[in-house]
Amino acid sequence: MDFIGHHVLSVDQFARADIERIFQVADEMQPYAERTRITRVLEGAILGNMFFEPSTRTRVSFGCAFNLLGGEVRETTEVKASSLAKGESLYDTARVLSGYSDIIVMRHPEAGSVAEFASASRVPVLNAGDGTNEHPSQALLDLYTIRKELEGQNRSIDGLRIALVGDLKHGRAVHSLCKMLGLFDHVEFNLVSPAELAAPADIVEALVAKGHAVNVWGDLQSGIHHVDIVYVTRTQEERFPSQEEADRYRGLFRLNQAIYTEHCEPNTVIMHPLPRDSRAQAQELDVDLNQNPNLAIFRQTDNGVLVRMALFALILNIADEIHNHARPVTWYTAKRTPRT
Ligand code: NCD
Repeated sequence: MDFIGHHVLSVDQFARADIERIFQVADEMQPYAERTRITRVLEGAILGNMFFEPSTRTRVSFGCAFNLLGGEVRETTEVKASSLAKGESLYDTARVLSGYSDIIVMRHPEAGSVAEFASASRVPVLNAGDGTNEHPSQALLDLYTIRKELEGQNRSIDGLRIALVGDLKHGRAVHSLCKMLGLFDHVEFNLVSPAELAAPADIVEALVAKGHAVNVWGDLQSGIHHVDIVYVTRTQEERFPSQEEADRYRGLFRLNQAIYTEHCEPNTVIMHPLPRDSRAQAQELDVDLNQNPNLAIFRQTDNGVLVRMALFALILNIADEIHNHARPVTWYTAKRTPRT
């Protein structure tokens, strides 16, 4: 795809070569994310970071990514703090806010809302999650993480065996990741969920049509045998009609160290888009896995900054200029010390 000036609304926009290009630029962002070098290439540029749904990682990492390239970030959080609460349409909001920014990142509870907003925007819009639909930048950082984790094992994404666990019906991170993995060859999907929270049929059918193996499981143990990646998700309680209904599914699949040791392969990588639900009745990813070296959840969050910097760099067409605007960093930073 042509990145320059374009919206990123769905992973369907990407071909394999586009993903490779994003990852190549993401790799180059490492010294800036780790603060060995500083660049001001986006000096003067403004990001409109608009989050009409709760967010920690996605909002802050998009903001940090823009700051790390030298740009300024203007945040709008919550519908009630914006004019949408006074009945303003997405169209009008987009016309107005795109006049104040060079690029916009948006999260909204309704599927399709970010695309609607983008169609009225005068600047590129990146979908940071639209309801149950898609979360393209999360899929990119997940895939980037998978690639990095597998590199150490001399494996590639072609032939990957992955288990996706939890609320596969409402999880937009799962939807985007499945579609993106569908671009590769011979991926084995093990879908572990209660029947009521199964992955959408259109996504599964598309994977099967492309020749991927899709296994559906009702229990965790069977699904996580013989996989390279276990991708755990929380019950998306905010998508259920009532709290009681969401509570029925909480805590059904819990991965902890004992289950991991018994049922996973020694190198199986554990991932989660986060937040993990740490309340007693949920705990889909137990804290006793925190010392497990294959727990990649915080490597995922670090990688999110690199991938989001790469998206900004490609869309705003400064990927080849970053290093010209760079200089070394001299202040103390723990990020530069070797990681354990
Ligand atoms: C995910 C989301 O918002 O879809 N979180 C995230 O962006 N890292 C997953 C979730 O909320 O469970």
